[in-house]
Amino acid sequence: MNIKPADRLAQFSEYYFSAKLRAIRELIAQGRPIVNLGIGSPDQMPHAGVIGALQETAQSGDSHGYQPYQGLPALGDAIREFYARAYQVHVEDKAVLPLLGSKEGIMHTSLAYLNPGDQVLIPALGYPTYTSVTRIVGAEPVYFPLMETSDWAPDWEFLEQLDCSKVKILWINYPHMPSGTRADKALLTRYVDFARSRNILLCHDNPYSFILNDSPLSIFNVEGAEEVAIELNSLSKSFNMAGWRVGWAMGSEKLIQPVLQIKSNMDSGMFKPVQLAAIEALNLDRSWFDGLNDQYRKRQLVGFRIMDLLNCQYSDHQAGMFVWAKAPNGDGEAFVEEILDRYDVFMAPGFIFGEAGRSYIRLSLCASVELLEEVYNRMS
Ligand SMILES: Cc1ncc(COP(=O)(O)O)c(C=O)c1O
Repeated sequence: MNIKPADRLAQFSEYYFSAKLRAIRELIAQGRPIVNLGIGSPDQMPHAGVIGALQETAQSGDSHGYQPYQGLPALGDAIREFYARAYQVHVEDKAVLPLLGSKEGIMHTSLAYLNPGDQVLIPALGYPTYTSVTRIVGAEPVYFPLMETSDWAPDWEFLEQLDCSKVKILWINYPHMPSGTRADKALLTRYVDFARSRNILLCHDNPYSFILNDSPLSIFNVEGAEEVAIELNSLSKSFNMAGWRVGWAMGSEKLIQPVLQIKSNMDSGMFKPVQLAAIEALNLDRSWFDGLNDQYRKRQLVGFRIMDLLNCQYSDHQAGMFVWAKAPNGDGEAFVEEILDRYDVFMAPGFIFGEAGRSYIRLSLCASVELLEEVYNRMS
């Protein structure tokens, strides 16, 4: 017997964290006191009211059947109302498709829009899933540079001169992971203009907008964006609900319909109590984000002190839940291994986000101030 997997598997490897965290778990099982500062999985609890809503509604007899493919209408309404409050943008006319997080949206959008041979513009430093999914569907990643010395701004000269005749999708993500760079409206407007002038689907992956970021922006804050843009968003980071798998794609009816066509053939609507609890989260007032950011701000300060101790260089105005810093020896991967060996602390090496990140490391702030202080003390 020789049952061969599909050829497409040769185009990408197992997700870095899937393999690396398995290795870390083995080290922990051997008794090593490893602190994992690798991944952005919020350690804090969701709001008590959200958990209460899940518990309560799970008791109900009408909670357990298949749910509408497009989600409960009340969830779509809650998402639109959340956009009005949180981003000051009116999206009543937009379609909302609930998803199992932004990550799922990357796959569904790619399946819905890409043919083999199409090209996809991807930031040269960014979330690795844009590349792997592009390859899974047989399309070709084309990387556009982000300029390290200009706070990772896109290289517009490169973009303006590029032959985009085969480009179908442009991925952007602000606040940017892993660098923590924020966008302003002018930058998003330039991306929208670029996509409109070249007939490209602009996909804005927006899961970090409420973490250490005073001015959250949606792509729909830009006038005319609905002609070309889909936005992915989720409750994973904003509401400490990464494991719940609640997200959505938003856009004009015309752009979302093909994504629904894919999604409705792949799975069914999400568990009703999860949707009802998600509504509870979306209805929380500002004090939720104030409390969340108060924690992240304190953590970030300890993260900066850790980087100072390690002689790493970093920008002190990063948004999001990481500290992105340049390793002193210019080799992030070797530095991460050295830190793991010497201090039993794991951080993510920058190369996994693209070649441009090779000399960097990324520390996750999804750990308590006390734990981060412990890491600091181990290192000092
Ligand atoms: C840039 C970016 N996009 C999307 C995701 C996926 O998030 P989720 O699927 O939980 O919404 C992540 C997760 O780390 C991310 O960093």
